[in-house]
Amino acid sequence: MTVGIDKIGFYTPGLALDLVELAQVRGDEPDKYTIGIGQSVQTIVPNYEDVVTMGVNAAQKILTDADREQIEMVVFATESGVDNSKSAAVFAQKLLGLSPFIRTIEMKQACYAGTYGLMQARDFVALHPGKKVLVIAADIARYGLATPGEVTQGAGAVAMVVSDDPAIAEIATDSVYMSRDVADFWRPIDSTTALVDGHLSTDVYKEMFLTLWQRYQDQTGMKLSDLAGFAFHLPYTKMGKKALDQIMDQVDADGQAFLRAQLAASQVYNRQVGNLYTGSVYLALLSLLKEGDLQTGQRLGVFSYGSGAEAELFSLKLSDGFDQVVAQQDVAGMLAHRQMVSVAEYEEIFNSQLFDSAVDSQSQAPAGTGLCQFLGWQSGERQ
Ligand code: CAA
Repeated sequence: MTVGIDKIGFYTPGLALDLVELAQVRGDEPDKYTIGIGQSVQTIVPNYEDVVTMGVNAAQKILTDADREQIEMVVFATESGVDNSKSAAVFAQKLLGLSPFIRTIEMKQACYAGTYGLMQARDFVALHPGKKVLVIAADIARYGLATPGEVTQGAGAVAMVVSDDPAIAEIATDSVYMSRDVADFWRPIDSTTALVDGHLSTDVYKEMFLTLWQRYQDQTGMKLSDLAGFAFHLPYTKMGKKALDQIMDQVDADGQAFLRAQLAASQVYNRQVGNLYTGSVYLALLSLLKEGDLQTGQRLGVFSYGSGAEAELFSLKLSDGFDQVVAQQDVAGMLAHRQMVSVAEYEEIFNSQLFDSAVDSQSQAPAGTGLCQFLGWQSGERQ
């Protein structure tokens, strides 16, 4: 029996900011943003969206009635949850109309948690053939106005259905992973913006990729030329290039040109959305599946990294007809239909969502955004 990704869907809110405009207002060279960092457009989150609304919207794009009956577990990966106690997966279960007789759980380990969810899903389905698991990876990446991280903000959600006989790709049981306590990125409980040592985080990401790639080769006997490309966690698109460049000398010139083209294909959507933390690597995967040069039976590498830090490297084997399944997702159309906002409008929206006691002790939590607004709650009210 093969187990893997049967469906994959993506959602990002309908507002966006042109990063050339942001660079001009911040007094930076636009090329630093678009080439040096590799981001062109950033999703802006309106006040009526949060990780639950984004995650549910992503899942709505892929779920059929049959899926709803067969889903026996929802794993919701996020580091921007709406409640410090209740799982976002419970809200998703209700909003998606799933059975009450299922498990629901929220996972957190920075940008890595979606991969943990995917592996839990694979193991569950392997033990329970015929059942399905819904994995949602949704986040809002927020660093602060005029900070170095600002250009790498973004938001969105990826939803995946994991099943046996998967239509998109088998998840191989070849994972290598590692964890190490590093203070490269963190978000205090009372802060809506992340604190980050950006250059350290880039170094740790590169180092963990190299370490795991060597370990992966030792344990599996695979070579770089055995892979038809990588889906990297892309906090910004240049990050994937920085990781891949470290091992490019393991293939010849043609191999390098091929892998660079596949990397470019994996970066198309992330470049226009920004970071979506847990969902970022799976948006890169969707981008590679839709925009890359791929064939049935080929193997892709997936590198997942979460600051703090934890990383995992594994492979996917493409199923027969995967291209027809992913063709149903019109990501380019969704991105093209976003409404562009000015830098002033973005700043107003950003400030209205800020309630960092560390940043501004006078500011208050907004009186109900996103899911709270949807359910008609007021801030502080319990149901
Ligand atoms: N034209 C072209 N390129 C230019 C340029 C110009 N005019 N000006 C500068 N550049 C290039 C620089 O040479 C540099 O390239 P290299 O990295 O290849 O050397 C690049 O633009 C960025 O320049 P800086 O390093 O000077 O930029 P910065 O100090 O403002 O910070 C950053 C960049 C560290 C990525 C920052 O945006 C940041 O902190 N982002 C958030 C943290 C992050 O994303 N970390 C990634 C790893 S952690 C992770 O993966 C988990 C997660 O999701 C957060």
